[in-house]
Amino acid sequence: MVIAPAVYYIRLMGRQISPVRVYPPGYSDSAPSADYRPWTGDSTFLRAWTQVKEHTLLDQSRLYELWELIPQVAPVAGSILEVGTWRGGSAALLGWRAAAVGLDRELLIADTFTGVAKAGPRDPYYSGGEHADTALDTVQAFLHSLPLRNFNLLKGIFPDDTAHRVSDRAIAFCHIDVDVYDSAKGVFDWVWPRVPPGGIIVFDDYGFYGCEGVTSLVHELRERTDAVTVANLNGHAVFVRTQERRTTT
Ligand SMILES: C[S@@+](CC[C@H](N)C(=O)[O-])C[C@H]1O[C@@H](n2cnc3c(N)ncnc32)[C@H](O)[C@@H]1O
Repeated sequence: MVIAPAVYYIRLMGRQISPVRVYPPGYSDSAPSADYRPWTGDSTFLRAWTQVKEHTLLDQSRLYELWELIPQVAPVAGSILEVGTWRGGSAALLGWRAAAVGLDRELLIADTFTGVAKAGPRDPYYSGGEHADTALDTVQAFLHSLPLRNFNLLKGIFPDDTAHRVSDRAIAFCHIDVDVYDSAKGVFDWVWPRVPPGGIIVFDDYGFYGCEGVTSLVHELRERTDAVTVANLNGHAVFVRTQERRTTT
């Protein structure tokens, strides 16, 4: 999710020139200075992206990271779960990639379909109900059109309303894209005990201005000793479940 910081327009000799964004400390317009954009030369990815791009808020960098991570859970037993689907774009990419690399895993897709849930004091931008401009039927029809078949749509707040329907599942891969602290924490707390070693959780929203709740949750969780965590600076934080507990020094 991207929100606009305060924008001021500089006027010079009566003429309006480029906008200047004003961020709080720790934030600014940023782009990686490395040149590598592997998705631009990956025709398989670009074909999938063309199909999903109108159904997702994620940029190519984050979609490509999901694309690259999915084959890495091939040795890990369990389903693929996305919580926070909106119009189904990133979920479709996960399912597409899994099918393309021969990973026959059930794709669990959870959303309220009534917008963001559990916004609270840690979430300065959200009040609840954002991103309600979608519907379960729309996502279902979109996934069928690709065509994807092995998916299970869970309508309601996850985990509170719908997790009981899948409580016996191991989770090899989970994409948490729910924008706010309490929702993200609820999902993580349910999922993590079900993730075998080598399994991966990706938090979207990490570091986005306006998603400080998710950023602070990631900072709390990365203290744990049963994960290797990568606080990526493209809007993702990645947690890989470790075999053994890391020793702290
Ligand atoms: C930014 S959107 C997801 C974007 C999507 N992944 C994409 O590809 O564009 C966030 C979604 O999270 C959903 N959501 C937030 N908290 C939730 C919760 N606890 N359970 C289920 N869905 C939730 C909202 O309804 C919303 O559709």
